[in-house]
Amino acid sequence: MCYDGGGESIGRQSAGPDSPSRRAFNRLLMAGTGLTALSACTPAPASAPASAPAGIPAPSPGLSPGVRTGSPTAATSSSPPPNPPSAATLPESTTAAATPPTPAAAPSKAAPSKAPPSASARGPQHSLTDPVSPWVIVNKHRPLFPATFVPPDLIRPSVRLATSGEAALLNSTTAAAAEKMFAAAAADGVIITLASGYRSFRTQTATYGSYVRTRGRAEADTASARPGYSEHQTGWSFDIGDGGGACSFQPCFAEQQAAVWAKANAHRFGFVVRYPWMFHEITGYYYEPWHLRYIGVAAATDMSTRGIATLEEYFGLEAAPGYL
Ligand code: DAL
Ligand code: ZN
Repeated sequence: MCYDGGGESIGRQSAGPDSPSRRAFNRLLMAGTGLTALSACTPAPASAPASAPAGIPAPSPGLSPGVRTGSPTAATSSSPPPNPPSAATLPESTTAAATPPTPAAAPSKAAPSKAPPSASARGPQHSLTDPVSPWVIVNKHRPLFPATFVPPDLIRPSVRLATSGEAALLNSTTAAAAEKMFAAAAADGVIITLASGYRSFRTQTATYGSYVRTRGRAEADTASARPGYSEHQTGWSFDIGDGGGACSFQPCFAEQQAAVWAKANAHRFGFVVRYPWMFHEITGYYYEPWHLRYIGVAAATDMSTRGIATLEEYFGLEAAPGYL
């Protein structure tokens, strides 16, 4: 089984050459998915930041100095990939100008001098804690409450499925948005499949346990959420594949048409790539080009326009690189 990052468990990037992360990283290279796969995980540059529309949060600061820009240069303060991306494939970045400080954020060396209003100053349109809210933030610092939450409106979307059972379910809002997005992709000649949607607390327990048994707890935590900490349990998230299953849940999925299309277009349907390249010290997870999260068209488009990569930054929340 290879749910959510099965092929990219390369450990915590902030560690040194002898750290678990480096060892895991080396194992990835040894497995033959290394340099090619990593160089495959370098998305195109993002557009320039802009102001927030009314009612939408202004961006918050990056929360981990040295990683917050998501650029290869910034990433070198953590653990650089052995094959630096070319200029043509630089990851998207959130510039200092796009990341104003908020009270919720940890100090950052790169804090800009001119800061637009913070998310906390404007106030969110939706709850950041209620799991039925499209803006609920679930990460290693923010478990679901209640831990065994079950979305009340799970349905199976009319999309191409690469899974079955509960994993083929999404909450009704996400399902409707997914149907539109998959249809738009198909109209562009791109096949996207639903590879893994809703996951119950019980299923996440099994999934995470499987990772721990095969890779150890530290490495498991870089790819799979502990039970009660997964977005999949909210019904707001799902993983995509392509028609042929190429590079499923592996870093090289970033190069597949489905991922390229989703990265460029998902915001138009309300989705963001939740775990972007080199933002693991904010999100807690390595790049998952397959994991999409619904937050609504206005917010997702705003994030895209301003080049804000993570929900933590967008909503002015602290970085969540590890469990508290
Ligand atoms: N792979 C993501 C982090 C999850 O398990 O929810
Ligand atoms: Zn996922």
